[in-house]
Amino acid sequence: MPLASPSPTGPLTGRRIVLGLTGSIAAYKSATLARELQRRGAEIRVVMTKGATEFITPLTMATLVDRPVHSDFTEDEDAGTWTNHVELGLWGDLILVAPATANTLAAMVHGQCDNLLQAVLLSARCPVSVAPAMDLDMYQHASTQSNLNVLMQRGVDVIDPGTGALASGLVGKGRMAEPEDIAQHLEQWFQRELPLAGKRVLITAGPTHEPLDAVRFLGNRSSGKMGFALAKSFADQGAVVTLVAGPVALPTPHRVHERIDVQTAREMNDAVMSHWPHVDIGVACAAVADFRPETTSTAKWHRGDVPNAIELTENPDILKAMGSSKSTHQFLVGFALETDDGLESARGKLKRKNLDAIVLNTLQDEGAGFAVDTNKVTVLSRDEKSVSFELKSKDEIAKDLVELWRTTMTT
Ligand code: CTP
Repeated sequence: MPLASPSPTGPLTGRRIVLGLTGSIAAYKSATLARELQRRGAEIRVVMTKGATEFITPLTMATLVDRPVHSDFTEDEDAGTWTNHVELGLWGDLILVAPATANTLAAMVHGQCDNLLQAVLLSARCPVSVAPAMDLDMYQHASTQSNLNVLMQRGVDVIDPGTGALASGLVGKGRMAEPEDIAQHLEQWFQRELPLAGKRVLITAGPTHEPLDAVRFLGNRSSGKMGFALAKSFADQGAVVTLVAGPVALPTPHRVHERIDVQTAREMNDAVMSHWPHVDIGVACAAVADFRPETTSTAKWHRGDVPNAIELTENPDILKAMGSSKSTHQFLVGFALETDDGLESARGKLKRKNLDAIVLNTLQDEGAGFAVDTNKVTVLSRDEKSVSFELKSKDEIAKDLVELWRTTMTT
């Protein structure tokens, strides 16, 4: 039976978030917020303004995120070391200012730079989210509303404050959104900004092992690197990826939704066919063994027990079955590894298996194929177009391929 291995997945997995705290009583909620973001897989660095440190101690935040908090330009005045705000700004996939006071929002609008957090915000190239927290009159004030509008027009994501009892004793809108709601909001936000958000993708990767006896198998030298790189690229573009992996020694890429580990072609076939009707894109990157031994010994063969000949029987052609049951909204890609130039053979496979595209790599090209970190591919499409890519790392090829198919599917 295929084993479903747990994977740390979700839209925040592996995301780097610079969490900025400013001087509001809501800063006490930022401790829970940091925990909630971490629980969902994000990596956090904390920057606090002086005001924030009056409401919650840097030690609390540092302990929760297990690294020092940044609150000053200088880290150690005696040693002359300073906090590299540019490096912090470039590190993050997102800066989240929570709580964001009226003062910080105004400073952001005017590009003021009188504390470390403001400097990080000015040097950042990543998107910024703010979770305002203030009294209801301050929140409703025309200056605050106008500042929020300016920030939104500049692309800052504003997380609406909640309504309820405020620290002043008044009741109204202005309390910082609850940590769980902020985390959920960010999950949706990270997915919404991505071009393949909501698309479901099924990828096969690696070899299959077809047992001969208790310890031996028929297999091949596929490392799974190309399929895993594709899984990562699709997930990075927001797709919900299910990765069906043969026996490989590779970690699950961040944000891959589900990984199903299998050994044999028949296990791979079962896992794929149960998912295929529910996905939008299928990519068969696995080097599936076309044959398996007709009989398998559950014990280890010892010298003398080994049969003179091993009968082979055909495995299911998984990709062909996917092509046969493909519906009009589905996009299906196969791979062809050839030992000669292989164009004709790849074209034949594309037709025979009812594919939308096939990726050809040939062992003739140095640096292409199994067990290396690079590849050189040509993509043939159903409409007879072909695109060739230079020899590149498998990660780069994966990005190019995902981009190519994304544009093909949307035109
Ligand atoms: N494939 C599959 N199931 C199989 C065999 C192959 O899904 N049992 C998929 C591979 O993942 C790949 C493509 O089919 O996407 C390769 O096509 P295939 O005709 O099997 O290629 P070869 O095994 O190289 O076949 P041939 O020996 O005919 O060249």
